[in-house]
Amino acid sequence: MTSATDPVVIMKQEVAKAAVERIKSDSIVGLGTGSTTAYVIEFLGDKLTKGELKNIVGIPTSFQSEVLSKKYGVPLTTLDAIDHIDIAIDGADEVDPQKNLIKGGGAAHTREKIVDAFADQFIVVVDSGKLVDRLNSQFLLPVEVIPMALSPVTIAIKKLGGTPELRMGVKKAGPVITDEGNLVLDVKFDKIEDPGLMEKTINNIPGVLENGLFVGVADVVLVGEIIDGKPTVREL
Ligand code: A5P
Repeated sequence: MTSATDPVVIMKQEVAKAAVERIKSDSIVGLGTGSTTAYVIEFLGDKLTKGELKNIVGIPTSFQSEVLSKKYGVPLTTLDAIDHIDIAIDGADEVDPQKNLIKGGGAAHTREKIVDAFADQFIVVVDSGKLVDRLNSQFLLPVEVIPMALSPVTIAIKKLGGTPELRMGVKKAGPVITDEGNLVLDVKFDKIEDPGLMEKTINNIPGVLENGLFVGVADVVLVGEIIDGKPTVREL
């Protein structure tokens, strides 16, 4: 890894290192998606190569984390081959003071929620820019939708007071297609008063597969920040 100068990259690398320190040998590890967890997978692979960790098997949360795990030599398995996950490490797009999250910036929140919620311990890794007083204040709420239900789900979300927009591809014409073959609506609400209720209400709309509110799922939030020019990691 080349040494970074961008402070956000430095914060991501530091928090990723701190999270990997919490992984013990002989563990099943949930591997999150995004730029921060990309460092987690890289550092975990490093530790396996050096023999500092042994007998680790990972559960990827996306095609991205699967590809990175193969690249950095982290052995993988599937959910149907195991009966528990010891620890999951994953990023987030927003974190509120109650450790509730918005995830799905990488359109991977459905698999992430399955893996993160199943883990005995779920550690969130974020840089300090992700901390907010109220969810959905800076980041739109991703909702994964089965394609044929796009119109009724859009109408239902508007009735809830949301403003949905279909996520479009970058360097690809047309919408983003998730790892499950679905679409993503990014939604802005005026105010999400009760994230737990909103999570359930949206998931109750026929045609919604999963939304990016993670309420009461995170056990630990590690925050990378730069204080007086020095990168540090604190637990929220
Ligand atoms: C993926 O769908 C998301 O939930 C990511 O975990 C989230 O977007 C965090 O990504 P970064 O670490 O790249 O900010």
